[in-house]
Parts: sequence; structure tokens; C-alpha cells
Amino acid sequence: IRKIAVAVDGPAGAGKSSISKLVAQRLGYLYIDTGAMYRAITWAALHAGVDVKDEIKVTALLPSIDLRLEPTKDSFRVYVNNREITADIRSQAVTGHVSQVASYKSVREFLVEKQRQMARCGGVILDGRDIGSVVLPDAELKIYLTASVDARAHRRWLEVKDIEEVSLEDIKRSVKERDLMDTTRKESPLICVPEAVVVDSSNMSFDNTVEHIMKLIIDKS
Ligand code: C5P
Repeated sequence: IRKIAVAVDGPAGAGKSSISKLVAQRLGYLYIDTGAMYRAITWAALHAGVDVKDEIKVTALLPSIDLRLEPTKDSFRVYVNNREITADIRSQAVTGHVSQVASYKSVREFLVEKQRQMARCGGVILDGRDIGSVVLPDAELKIYLTASVDARAHRRWLEVKDIEEVSLEDIKRSVKERDLMDTTRKESPLICVPEAVVVDSSNMSFDNTVEHIMKLIIDKS
């Protein structure tokens, strides 16, 4: 069967990454987590001691960032200038600043170019906020994966509660803050494009959502 390009967009914590990763693995697709790329730039800025609120300074840092996503058997590793930062990009510090950094036009141009190059070979699933609208407007299948704020915050809390001391309320606040920034920013805000298939996973299990999305892809292939 033919392999297509799949765009998966949606708000924070909807399960885009974990679901897309598994679907890609099962179908033999390349999975590209574009959120990880925005996180990597944010990590690099924090690591360099750059004020992430300063768009000019963040922009000036971009040419010195060699960002690489290296696919592994069931996931991928993230490198900045040959240093592995796969785990570091999930910290609360990065999560708390990433939407600010992702709002800068220079950062988006830098990463969108890389994302298109990585997606060139077809048979890809990209997840993010602007995949169907900006990165791959010609994708054969566009999915808008969403869930209620409560469901998303709860899932995220289950993921991080054993790693970091953080309350469900704090996570909920952070999810809402990111949603607001991501949907109201000037540069390629998160939108649900009219041609997207909306999947609301609030009352769906992880396995059901995976099955459902696999079927959508197979039907288009
Ligand atoms: O998907 P994830 O939650 O890891 O994304 C982190 C942040 O990166 C998002 O909240 C958003 O601000 C930004 N992002 C983006 N465009 C994308 C992917 C992520 O602006 N395509």
C-alpha cells in the first residue's frame, strides 16, 4: 500500500506524541515530533543563559544550534550540538518557556524548513500545532486530536507525577496557559483546518485512539 503524509495537530497533552509514535511504528512510518524541536531550541536558549523573552537574542542564537532528531527502533533521540538532551527537553523549565520561544517568527522559519526537509521522503507522521496549516498543507490526511482540559491535564499529571513534584492544579494551569498562547499568537497559531478529521479522545482509551487513527491512515492509503 501507498505511504502518505499525515499531519496531527492539537492542543497540549492531547496524546499526539505517544499516539503518533506508536501508529508510526506499527505502520512503518517515520515519526517527527515537532514539539520536541521547539523544546530543543528552548533548552538551548536556557542553557546558553539567553533571556527567552528576548526575541532578538534568541534569534541570534539560532545559527549556532545544530539540532538533530535521531530515530531509534521505537522512538527518537534529540541532540543539540552533539549533546543528547532527549530527557532534558521534558523538564518543567522547558515546558514553561517553550510557547514563548515558539511564538517567534525566526524560530518557526528555522524549524519549519527543517521539518519539510525531514518529511520529504513520504510515509511520515508529523505532530505539532501548525502541521496541517503551514508545514504540510498538502498532507493527504490531517487529524486534529483533542480532549477536554481536565482529561489532558490528568494524563500529563500521571506521566510526570513520579518524576517531578507537581500538582494536578499546576499542570492544568500550565496546559491552559500553553493553549492560550498557542491559539492566540500571531505566527501560525494552532487552528483546526476545515479539512481535518477531528478526534476527541476525552472518553476514548489510548488503545482505541491508536486503532482509530491507524484506520484513518489505512483508509487513505
Ligand atoms: O507538542 P509539545 O507539547 O511538546 O509542544 C511544545 C510547544 O511547542 C507547544 O506548546 C507549542 O508552543 C510549540 N509548538 C509549536 N508548533 C509545533 C509544535 C509545537 O508552536 N508544530
